[in-house]
Amino acid sequence: MRDFLSSYSIGKGSIIIKLMKDNSNMKTEPIHTVDALLEENRVFKPEKSFLSQANVKDAGIYKDAQKNPKKYWENWAKKLDWFQKWNKILEWKPPFAQWFIGGKLNACYNCVDRHVKGPNKNKAALIWEGEPGEQRILTYWEVYREVNKFANALKSLGVKKGDRVAIYLPMIPEAVISMLACARIGAIHTVVFGGFSAEALKDRINDAQAKVLITADGSYRRGTVVPLKNMADKAIENCPSIHHVVIVRRANNEIHVKEGRDHWFHRLIQKAKHYCEPEKMDSEDILFTLYTSGTTGKPKGIVHTTGGYMTGVLATTNMVFDLKPEDVFWCTADVGWVTGHSYVVYGPMANGATQVIYEGAPDWPERDRFWKLIEKYGVTIFYTAPTAIRAFMKWGVEWPKSCNLSSLRLLGSVGEPINPEAWMWYHKHIGGGQCPVVDTWWQTETGSIMIAPLPGIMPTKPGSATKPLPGIDAVVLNDEGEKVKTGGGYLAIRKPWPSMLRGIYGDPERFKKTYFRKWKDIYFPADGCKIDDDGYYWLLGRVDDIMLVAGHNISTMEVESALVSHHSVAESAVIGITDDVKGQAIAAFVTLKEGHAPSKEVEERLKAHVAHAIGAIARPSKVLFAEDLPKTRSGKIMRRLLRDIAEGRALGDVTTLSDANVIEKLKKRYEEES
Ligand code: WT7
Repeated sequence: MRDFLSSYSIGKGSIIIKLMKDNSNMKTEPIHTVDALLEENRVFKPEKSFLSQANVKDAGIYKDAQKNPKKYWENWAKKLDWFQKWNKILEWKPPFAQWFIGGKLNACYNCVDRHVKGPNKNKAALIWEGEPGEQRILTYWEVYREVNKFANALKSLGVKKGDRVAIYLPMIPEAVISMLACARIGAIHTVVFGGFSAEALKDRINDAQAKVLITADGSYRRGTVVPLKNMADKAIENCPSIHHVVIVRRANNEIHVKEGRDHWFHRLIQKAKHYCEPEKMDSEDILFTLYTSGTTGKPKGIVHTTGGYMTGVLATTNMVFDLKPEDVFWCTADVGWVTGHSYVVYGPMANGATQVIYEGAPDWPERDRFWKLIEKYGVTIFYTAPTAIRAFMKWGVEWPKSCNLSSLRLLGSVGEPINPEAWMWYHKHIGGGQCPVVDTWWQTETGSIMIAPLPGIMPTKPGSATKPLPGIDAVVLNDEGEKVKTGGGYLAIRKPWPSMLRGIYGDPERFKKTYFRKWKDIYFPADGCKIDDDGYYWLLGRVDDIMLVAGHNISTMEVESALVSHHSVAESAVIGITDDVKGQAIAAFVTLKEGHAPSKEVEERLKAHVAHAIGAIARPSKVLFAEDLPKTRSGKIMRRLLRDIAEGRALGDVTTLSDANVIEKLKKRYEEES
């Protein structure tokens, strides 16, 4: 770890970040070459016109929150509707936090019921467009009606408070309705991204011991139908906990319906009663679990509870996106990821927002689909990922140029560090040079945004997420736990915050070991971070074995175990390599078993095998065959050297290798091939 920290070279006019660490996925090449930016002092000050209308106008909020964080968060909690007020704001017995103890509320009530009691009743809640082009607009009243009925339908299938319900759906209104219906009756939802394989779905259902699975017949992606129900059928062959399956009719593809177990969503709704009393949930009752990759092959079920999570997403949606009643908000994330939970469902809906949701791909039928949607629906706030922005850059400015994007007033970015070039392009070509860009750092575990500008008052620097939000005690520490004032180290969060994860489902030990092992009672996000002279935070990517592929969290171990599950593979080492569009792509080094020879065909078969085991997002872009893998004398694979090879660099320090021949051979072989 030492050399990782000392290898930073940070000067006033140059932030060239060199990170070296064995077994890390941090890039060893500069990821922010921002000399030019700093020389020109490219700092974007908020426009006066934006400030004058901003939700947060007074920079005193930072100091106030720091002085009394509990009071600060309590004030946000008060903006939710509670059935019963809390009697204590926070109890912190590290690493376990409880917020708003004794309070009772319901997340669904806060997202729909309270709006239908006022002028928002007939306001558009969801403006949905399917990939083939159909449109559905649901008002808050219509969402309320559907959610109530579906909540009753779930009850009729025997779902009770505390039961787990798995959701495996495309981006259709029923995904939102299903989540809210679970929340209404106190069932814990576990959404599994529709791009995950049957295998991955099975593992998550079994870990959660879900009773019911909600899926669809199929979904549209780039003009073809993804047979979701078929995959679900395959998954639940090995899921004894599943008693019922609910199927939303979406693509009208042919499916198998198992009598007694499977039920059509629309039939259940037809039969269901109109009103379902929302369950009075304890502030600390679980709202949902969501699986994210860990550094072992087994994904972690991140646990979020009700009161604190809702407080965090309500506050951040309001402040970071500067959300107003008249805005049209569009977060492009799928509900299968935490971004979809916090900034499609709970945050925007708790705030009574009108939002766009879109089912399909950004380049279908043409590469201007997103811009067409913005023009068509008058989107004012747009929140997407750097990987998408880099793809748009590659496709060219003609696409956004051909559409009227003048409705936009704020842009957001999430998922991985945004390179300054992409930031500038986004600002200029999508925002017309007029919109603040909020780069938002957070994690599945943090529940809501932690580091981001408040757009009315915080000057931005392209590539930096600026500073921690009010009430968030995020600092940069070194290995010893000493605070780094300027320079590089690890991001750390010293005090609990309301939307923090409460644990890993069924595994308290892993929770402690993963997040609180590094320093005593301090949360360790496993991200590298650098602080510049102005106190701005520059996030540098993961310091553990988790890759960020197109902004998605995938562990090297997960892909390695998928590879070795193939009969021909003896051993494998997986690394993240730099990719222009995806940020990182997956490269797999593989040694084959006796009797198997490397070939293009085997390579393709292995790629398909991983896609099948985990999902298309985990498909390696390169499979490199090796006779042997470079290891230390204690047998640890030296990924750093593999990265050097895959990225065509000179090899770094090889003195700890047990057999230097291995790496030389591998390098030669690789150079011959490419
Ligand atoms: C990891 C968390 C947060 C929702 C989507 C991802 C990276 C996320 C940023 C950002 C730099 C970022 C971090 C983090 N990350 N946003 N704005 N700048 N890095 O959630 O799958 O839990 O991944 O994504 O490395 O640890 P996730």
